[in-house]
Amino acid sequence: MRHLINITDLSIEEIDELIAVAEDIIAHPEKYQEACKHKILATLFFEPSTRTRLSFEAAMQRMGGSVLGFSAANSSSAAKGETVSDTISTVCRYADIIAMRHPKEGAPYAASRTATVPIINAGDGGHNHPTQTLTDLLTIHRERGNLENFTIGFCGDLKFGRTVHSLVSALARYTGIKFVFISPEELKLPKYLIDNTLKANNLPYTETTSLEEAMPELDFLYMTRVQRERFFNEADYVRLKDTYILSPEKLVTAKPTMAILHPLPRVNEITVDVDSDPRARYFDQVENGKFIRMALILKLLGITV
Ligand code: CP
Repeated sequence: MRHLINITDLSIEEIDELIAVAEDIIAHPEKYQEACKHKILATLFFEPSTRTRLSFEAAMQRMGGSVLGFSAANSSSAAKGETVSDTISTVCRYADIIAMRHPKEGAPYAASRTATVPIINAGDGGHNHPTQTLTDLLTIHRERGNLENFTIGFCGDLKFGRTVHSLVSALARYTGIKFVFISPEELKLPKYLIDNTLKANNLPYTETTSLEEAMPELDFLYMTRVQRERFFNEADYVRLKDTYILSPEKLVTAKPTMAILHPLPRVNEITVDVDSDPRARYFDQVENGKFIRMALILKLLGITV
């Protein structure tokens, strides 16, 4: 039985295989419409979500399976003090696979220790979000036809941004990637990623506070939200939340081929008039999330089509 807790739980060959299956699903959706008949996915979301939960549910339903679960901790027995471990032991009796989001870092890993069905980490606190990374990798692959030889800028909250942490860990295994980290001093990429992932592998990276300086060299710009829910102090959030706002004026110096990515939800960091720019890819990302999660569910359930 396999779980997906960190993106590095998957080899790059397995990621290639998931991307190939997702592409086949996009081209031939009818082949997959009964692939998960009689299978049940549980979505256990102890923290809010729109895309991740609904794309998992759409993925399972598009393959003929069904879904149960909860979308908030306070609508489950967690509100009565039940432990994650007991919740998982219970849901394993009802479902064939579980996608779980939790505000505490490491909670999906702890769940996987007692689970008797595959556990998918759908985001754990400020730590990791591996299925968003699969979504991002499929989107990048669809842009370029491969996952090599480009410069990617990560902009915004790189400290608490779990989507950034997982995507950096994934891209560090591919050839020819240059990383540019754009953030305020207070929201820089965690030292463990700089030391253990980038420096340890001699990967090229720069850190800057200036989006304007970085813009001309980027092939991908990965914008992120400054996340109110991760701050201990409202004053710090208010001071930092609008540090970077991507607008059409800021894009004047960007490459015509640069793709703008964002895991969403956005607040102020991309103005809505950027949405009509042909370089905006964030709603394509949303849709790609459904296809790659279909491929992941099939893999973890051991179903081939
Ligand atoms: N990208 C992402 O995780 O979005 P949601 O919080 O809406 O699931």
